[in-house]
Amino acid sequence: LNNGLAQTPQMGWNSWNFFACEINETVIKETADALISTGLADLGYVYVNIDDCWHNLTRNSEGQLVADPKTFPSGIKALADYVHGKGLKLGIYSDAGVFTCQVRPGSLYYEEGDAELFASWEVDYLKYDNCYNLGISPRKRYPPMRDALNDTGRIIFYSLCEWGVEDPALWARGVGNSWRTTDDINDSWASMTTIADINDKWAAYAGPGGWNDPDMLEVGNGGMTFQEYRAHFSIWALMKAPLLVGCDVRNMTSDTYEIISNKEVIAVNQDPLGVQGRKVHVTGIDGCLQVWAGPLSVRRLVVALWNRCSKAATITATWDSLGLESSTSVSVRDLWQHKIIAENAVVSFGTQVDAHDCQMYIFTPEALNRSEI
Ligand code: GLA
Repeated sequence: LNNGLAQTPQMGWNSWNFFACEINETVIKETADALISTGLADLGYVYVNIDDCWHNLTRNSEGQLVADPKTFPSGIKALADYVHGKGLKLGIYSDAGVFTCQVRPGSLYYEEGDAELFASWEVDYLKYDNCYNLGISPRKRYPPMRDALNDTGRIIFYSLCEWGVEDPALWARGVGNSWRTTDDINDSWASMTTIADINDKWAAYAGPGGWNDPDMLEVGNGGMTFQEYRAHFSIWALMKAPLLVGCDVRNMTSDTYEIISNKEVIAVNQDPLGVQGRKVHVTGIDGCLQVWAGPLSVRRLVVALWNRCSKAATITATWDSLGLESSTSVSVRDLWQHKIIAENAVVSFGTQVDAHDCQMYIFTPEALNRSEI
């Protein structure tokens, strides 16, 4: 969407994956505090996004949505002020249907009024869901909210959540700043890998202004190992997915923090070239030894060696699979070890990768290093 936002994928936090409906204004404020105190905000995680269950079961007598007085007694405007006071941005949630997925009132046929209300609260981001949609095509239901948001004069990030049902990559670039390509993620290896593969199919349609959204991060929620979460974060970054943390950032383990605060991996996600990396080569049983790669700015490449098999194995990226001339000499920087591990590599680069782990590198052609120095 050409509203000036999403030049790189959005980064922040969302309440759903960890808290579901157990949210309240204290949780949101403490999360904002934690994003600051942990340094995550400085790394780019600036959107504090409230998901479903923030509002009352009925509209007020003027037909407006109302924050739940029990859980959000100070109201959303006060929360926006609090979050803005910390230099962060506030996101809210509604639905392109008559109800949200948790059966709160939706915004279908209330687009103008609801957009005005969100703008009056100084909301910065809207996630717009797809439940109770009366069987009307998303292509008809999502543009009216885009237009309503635009008419408010406030620049609001517009995140489409129609779960990939009508292949939004094909039509949503002019509608939203990101579009979900899949069903909901859950905190498991099976879900995460399935979603990565579906999102990969739409790589060609991502770019500045509009991104494929394979759903929010589960890192830190307990259902995967350190290696699996590291793979999840690496591949989401490489795929130019939104990096929306979905754990309780007030109580993170050091492992969780190490993963989501990796500056070099975040820089891949936020690279100004904005090209979604893809799966470029597979070997092994059922193709479980995988090379994912994509171009970065300044003629560099990001390369991930992802072992989805159940045993440690060597994975090799050939220059051929990366689109490099075999004589091209590259330096290989390891983004998890934070050091250059090979110089003047030619033809191929391979290494042993643990089961379910993922190694991630930046390949810089040496000729480029010399001319840059
Ligand atoms: C849908 C969305 C989720 C979440 C829930 C909330 O399932 O896809 O991301 O917003 O609704 O009810």
